[in-house]
Amino acid sequence: MTSPLRLGIAGLGTVGAGVVKIVAGKAELLSARAGRPVVVTAVSARSRDKDRGVDLSGYAWEDDPVALATRDDVDVFVELMGGEAGAAKAATEAALQAGKDVVTANKAMLAIHGQALAEMAEAAGHVIRFEAAVAGGIPVVKGLTEGLAGNEILRVMGVMNGTCNYILTRMEAEGLGYNILFEEAGKLGYLEADPSLDVGGIDAGHKLALLASIAFGTKVDFEGVELEGIDRVTLDDIRHAADMGFRIKLLGVAQRSGRGLEQRMRPCLVPATSPLGQLEGGTNMVVIEGDEVGQIVLRGAGAGEGPTASAVLSDVMDIARGDRISTFGQPATALVTPIRAQSAVAAPYYLRLELEDKPGALAKVASVLGDAGVSIDRMRQYGHEDASAPVLIVTHKAARNAIDAALEALPKTGVVLGDPVALRIEAD
Ligand code: HSE
Repeated sequence: MTSPLRLGIAGLGTVGAGVVKIVAGKAELLSARAGRPVVVTAVSARSRDKDRGVDLSGYAWEDDPVALATRDDVDVFVELMGGEAGAAKAATEAALQAGKDVVTANKAMLAIHGQALAEMAEAAGHVIRFEAAVAGGIPVVKGLTEGLAGNEILRVMGVMNGTCNYILTRMEAEGLGYNILFEEAGKLGYLEADPSLDVGGIDAGHKLALLASIAFGTKVDFEGVELEGIDRVTLDDIRHAADMGFRIKLLGVAQRSGRGLEQRMRPCLVPATSPLGQLEGGTNMVVIEGDEVGQIVLRGAGAGEGPTASAVLSDVMDIARGDRISTFGQPATALVTPIRAQSAVAAPYYLRLELEDKPGALAKVASVLGDAGVSIDRMRQYGHEDASAPVLIVTHKAARNAIDAALEALPKTGVVLGDPVALRIEAD
């Protein structure tokens, strides 16, 4: 019999337990597909006593993930602990140095340290694979590195944080405010331990940075992602967007132009009838444009036990079969440092301002926008009872730097209360 591929799994939360269940429950199927058995030999987690709904008695236990990562009876270190650095990074490095391949779901670690880890893996003749780190069960890493390998990638965009999409779609469907739904998402266990990773756009930004690296052959540049969370999106924004035929999504876009690599993860308006506009609840969607294939749309569960464990198994099965694709689709030493670029493509913007309700206030706003080169297309004011008036403006196409100049100047007019909100309308 061909030698089995032996897994050491660190982290036995929902995903880790899910991987153990699949490997144990689908042993025959996996063996038939890989041409060799795939087995778990050892596991590691913080608490040994917790009931995880899976029988762990047949596996060696290590309290220390580094000890697990370096065991002689482990071929692949499966890192499912999470966390940008700390134990996850230490154990990943130890595994590579000890001659193991690594499969991880850790987007934060790879978004920050991915280049160094990929170089370390290559120098050691090993691979790091991370399908489960981006958009859960959607095979988007595989799609880009393999299915679309013959394409020049023109644009990657998508909704890659299910929690934010859940909050935004329920705000619209039920007319509930952001704070109520944020609390509810917490009670349902949707929020990361640090919720700002979700609602601040950071988790989705990590994922976008990883996809951009594969798509454009650039070193992962999370610092270059323009980030904005959903916590300032109000029901008025959602209603106004809906009146105009749009929905608000936390949308990531990575695109290369003559100026460099543009990466942004911000709330945007998208047409309600588009695939992205119709995406409901905690689902993820990634839209990829290639020069040969045109546009493809991938949709599916972005989190949860089954979908994420499914993605982990995709990488494990590649390694079992001997498919050894570079971490970011080409040798890490060949990846180039991207030039950061702000959006080169002008777009209409949706602006929301809180104005003092007094004569001349609107004229001052119009003048600031005009001075910044931003032209007003439409404007609306909902009924209000106090001394401040919410004003909603849709601009003609404008460059992001013109919008930023206007946002900086508006509070200085003395008639704008608080910080204005500007959301790009992504209609193409
Ligand atoms: N917290 C993420 C989400 C899943 O809500 O999509 C893990 O990245």
